[in-house]
Amino acid sequence: MNSIPANVAEKTLHDENEQQIPVAESPHSDADIVEGKTVGTPFADNAKFKLRDVEVFYGETRAIKNVSLDIASNEVIAFIGPSGCGKSTFLRCLNRMNDSIDICRVKGTLELDGQDIYDPRQDVVELRARVGMVFQKPNPFPKSIYDNVAYGPRIHGLANRKSDLDDIVESSLRKAGLWDEVKDRLDSTATGMSGGQQQRLCIARAIAVSPEVVLMDEPCSALDPIATAKVEELIAELSESYTIVIVTHSMQQAARVSHRTAYFHLGHLVEVNDTNTVFTSPEHQMTESYITGRFG
Ligand SMILES: Nc1ncnc2c1ncn2[C@@H]1O[C@H](COP(=O)(O)OP(=O)(O)OP(=O)(O)O)[C@@H](O)[C@H]1O
Ligand SMILES: [Mg+2]
Repeated sequence: MNSIPANVAEKTLHDENEQQIPVAESPHSDADIVEGKTVGTPFADNAKFKLRDVEVFYGETRAIKNVSLDIASNEVIAFIGPSGCGKSTFLRCLNRMNDSIDICRVKGTLELDGQDIYDPRQDVVELRARVGMVFQKPNPFPKSIYDNVAYGPRIHGLANRKSDLDDIVESSLRKAGLWDEVKDRLDSTATGMSGGQQQRLCIARAIAVSPEVVLMDEPCSALDPIATAKVEELIAELSESYTIVIVTHSMQQAARVSHRTAYFHLGHLVEVNDTNTVFTSPEHQMTESYITGRFG
């Protein structure tokens, strides 16, 4: 989608298949950031998610500090930043996955299509059907390929007849680019697939319930370059129908797949801009330091 200059560092810290690069500590501290102020274009006209003054605490520790951001309909937005800066924490707020962590508290305004997703009346199961998630490690259920994809539609009652369910399974596997590889072995166990196939199966499982948003937390970090390329192609296709939020440690990946990139640092949202700007002329000096590999 975007080409990026050669001075942009390739960070593959979590990628076991590639050589690890040494990274330095950040030359910057909190003092370089004005809390609650994000440079660039954090807001959008057609917001799917409207997030304002979001703070996340683990016990007394504030992991997300006064973050405001819109996520636009049908955009692919990438979250980047050094390890521990809060990317996963912030991502998990969007479908209340943090609810399962006892010591975690979320404050602020988090709206999906204008509805407060932290309203006590919000049905969390329904929220997670609208806002699906794909994790770092492919996590297929120890069931058949068919049953993995059919799982969500079954629990949400999306298909009345077997033929309807068959259609959902086929179309989800097609959208995930997996149909031709698995159509003759839908009854085989999913755990026997390759890692890349398993991750595409998890994407098929996530989209089988017709979500509006798909959250992906480092979806390619356990995949080889060929499987990664397939998942990236898939993200581009899916973005025609879904809003996608992807956390990645690979600058190249962020540049290839996303429209906007959000740079987090120590729980702050430092900069959001269109991806090309972030990687060619970032506005904040900390973004620049990070993308040129001065710290990781
Ligand atoms: N379950 C938890 N309990 C307590 N603290 C947590 C928990 N999960 C995350 N944290 C803390 O919150 C901060 C942000 O962590 P988070 O996992 O969101 O970072 P990240 O940007 O996703 O990092 P990485 O790139 O390594 O995945 C870190 O200081 C981390 O130690
Ligand atoms: Mg993370």
